[in-house]
Amino acid sequence: MRVVSGIQPTGNLHLGNYLGAIRNWVRMQDEMDEESECLFFLADLHAISMPHDPAELSRATLEMAAALVACGIDASRSVLFNQAQVPAHPEMQWLLNGTARMGWLNRMTQFKDKSGKNREGASVALFTYPVLQAADVLLYQATHVPVGEDQKQHLELARDIAQKFNNDFAPKNEDGSDRPVFTLPEPYIPPAAARIMSLRDGSKKMSKSDPSDMSRIELVDDPDTIMKKIKKAKTDPEPLPGDEGGLATRPEALNLVTIYAAMTDGSVESVLADFGGQGFGTFKPALGEVLVETLRPISERFNELLADRESLDAILARGAAKAREIAGPTLDATYAALGL
Ligand code: ADP
Ligand code: NA
Repeated sequence: MRVVSGIQPTGNLHLGNYLGAIRNWVRMQDEMDEESECLFFLADLHAISMPHDPAELSRATLEMAAALVACGIDASRSVLFNQAQVPAHPEMQWLLNGTARMGWLNRMTQFKDKSGKNREGASVALFTYPVLQAADVLLYQATHVPVGEDQKQHLELARDIAQKFNNDFAPKNEDGSDRPVFTLPEPYIPPAAARIMSLRDGSKKMSKSDPSDMSRIELVDDPDTIMKKIKKAKTDPEPLPGDEGGLATRPEALNLVTIYAAMTDGSVESVLADFGGQGFGTFKPALGEVLVETLRPISERFNELLADRESLDAILARGAAKAREIAGPTLDATYAALGL
């Protein structure tokens, strides 16, 4: 198995990013056996398809890399790199642009969603980034690609491109059979991730996109700040129920129990088995403790890494070198198949 996955660089990382995205990558890595490996990249090239601030992109890319390492991505077991440091990605995209059809890209719903009404003002990159995504995985002969609901269509596109390229250009073996250039990647269903809601409004997700929401727990918050934010979190006066059904109309309470469960690798049911009947006066300090203890080593390592740019750069440089090495033969084979 070779799993390839990119993550958009995000700055100001919070508990939702950790439980919903970063920790899942660590779990994916830990599920790999001897013969399997994960390639994880910061999708910085994808970020330029939307209006962006260059300084902010550099900062967010480094922060995300530091967070991945701090949370347990092991650069000796997985390949961790920046997409922009591996020129084979945009190179391969161009080579695949010859195979991708306008009609296929026209059907991508993400372009319609992200360009909105201003189709003419959208960047060309926003239109063609699904081809870059195809390049991202085909370049490494990925066998599996983790996909959420919104990315299924893009994986289908990658498979269509690979299939058409193999069909049109694959060289022949001596016995006349095809020697495919690309592996068709399968979807990989990642371990279920928690969805964390805002601590002041259980109907909104915890997100950095709402700057007025100060309740968000950040990966770099100190223990005092975490305890205060949990104490202030919106709740109701009822004690916790004995089972999940009792939380159906209590989104804020459900969210806090969900966070506790996610941080302790338990379930909502198991947390309620322990805390059912107790009020928030008991549950909140317990949750705060769990968060402080779990996040402490992560934020310490995160801050160390960010303070030591050289080590972080070295980790990424090693990852990029490894990625270039894996991509090399496929890139060569692609040029050759095209007569270039
Ligand atoms: P934000 O909403 O803070 O801007 P992003 O949209 O940049 O975060 O998301 C980065 C990653 O973190 C994505 O994989 C996204 O699914 C995940 N994520 C963001 N917020 C949450 C949340 N509240 N709960 C679970 N996962 C989240
Ligand atoms: Na967002």
